[in-house]
Amino acid sequence: MNVGVLASGSGTNLQALIDRAARNELGPARLTVVGVNVPDCVALARAKAAALQTFVLDHRDFKNRNSFDQALLAALRARQVDLVVLAGFMRILGPEILAAFPQRILNIHPALTPAFPGVHSQRQALDFGVKVTGCTVHFVDNTVDAGIVIAQAAVPVLDDDDEETLRARVLAEEHRLLPAVVRAVAEKRVVVEGRRARVLGAKPVGEVLRSL
Ligand code: GRF
Repeated sequence: MNVGVLASGSGTNLQALIDRAARNELGPARLTVVGVNVPDCVALARAKAAALQTFVLDHRDFKNRNSFDQALLAALRARQVDLVVLAGFMRILGPEILAAFPQRILNIHPALTPAFPGVHSQRQALDFGVKVTGCTVHFVDNTVDAGIVIAQAAVPVLDDDDEETLRARVLAEEHRLLPAVVRAVAEKRVVVEGRRARVLGAKPVGEVLRSL
């Protein structure tokens, strides 16, 4: 299964995928190409350092969202991408791309969706005062971070957390969860019934995370 990763930022989730792939821990998933929309982002440097194929599509070079989407779709098709992974990709995908990859686009979100969608999820969690947050890997649909949930990991919010400490604790879980889901999708172990996705063969965690 050819995986195209799209990123815009620091690319630590991309790096987690690269590291797993290097250890042959992604099953049949192959990192085929990395696309970025921010020409100087660290994610691009990480992809190049791993000798992956890359493309840069700077959204500011396009006159509207639709023309950007067309170019993105063409780039993914040119590499025969089967599965798209949004790893910190800060653009919303339009209907044509969504239709081209039905239940074939994953996103990692740094909160337990449907809580705290959009940007600054850690700040939203701190402002709301929740005791537990986490991360979610979900299928991308035409909502913002509200697609079908494939997997989630919970992370405690500590009394002395700030945005940075909470971000780091959530990121550590993201780096574990995203590669595991990519592998499960590639191994065709993700089964969707209605809104519910089951990951076949997943080991039950068997622990309740309590805040007190
Ligand atoms: C992650 O927190 C991810 O959940 C969110 O954007 C951030 C990307 O971080 N969608 P990185 O670029 O993978 O380091």
